[in-house]
Amino acid sequence: MARKIVILTGAGISAESGLGTFRDEGGLWAQHRIEDVATPEGFARDPGLVHRFYNARRAQALEAAPNPAHEALARLQRDWPGEVVIVTQNVDALHEKAGAKAIHMHGELAGALCFACGHRWPAPLEMAPGTPCPSCNAPAGRPDIVWFGEMPYHMEIIAEHLQSCDLFAAIGTSGQVYPAAGFVEEAAMAGAETVELNLADSGISRAFDDHRVGPASKVVPDWVAELLTAL
Ligand code: APR
Repeated sequence: MARKIVILTGAGISAESGLGTFRDEGGLWAQHRIEDVATPEGFARDPGLVHRFYNARRAQALEAAPNPAHEALARLQRDWPGEVVIVTQNVDALHEKAGAKAIHMHGELAGALCFACGHRWPAPLEMAPGTPCPSCNAPAGRPDIVWFGEMPYHMEIIAEHLQSCDLFAAIGTSGQVYPAAGFVEEAAMAGAETVELNLADSGISRAFDDHRVGPASKVVPDWVAELLTAL
């Protein structure tokens, strides 16, 4: 029976596609205050600032192309005889552009959410304060992004995958934000082997059995090739 693989991805997998990470030198959180652009309070205080922040990231993400790391994971999902689940913290669509399926636990730039009725719809390129909800018509559109202090999406199914996987990999995440940073422990407790693929040590590196150090566009295809040739 082929092993079930669960892969957590973070901003580092999209870095070589030109999308900025959060906590690297000059990253997004060096340019913007989290409390201003990534909290419900910040949105209530200045929705225009928040919409402008996500409009810029949405436009950039739309232009970005998947890199060899995204493509390698799509190949693994296609060619691996067992289940391969990708859980991403990223809000870009680069896994999907590479042909993979991913569970977006922090939402997606391509999505809009009505904070009055909960309706979701494809986000227009530019959102602004008072964007009307196509369902209830309230001027209550917001980016469908999980902000700090909000519950990540799909946590139940993610927990089920972590408890039933044989191999857990984390790619390009600093391990600074929970619950994602705790996934390696959950998987390890359920008996999974664990591997971290990152450019550098992260906040959770010591929790992993194995490490592949280097840029994702190099170490991820190498890791996938190793898995597929060992079949
Ligand atoms: N290849 C592999 N790893 C890389 C590369 C690369 N080319 N470039 C950067 N990295 C690694 C860094 O070493 C770091 O560990 O990617 C990680 C980026 O860390 P963060 O910027 O903290 O991004 P992430 O871990 O995804 O952040 C988690 O925090 O702000 C919230 O919601 C936001 O989803 C985000 C969450």
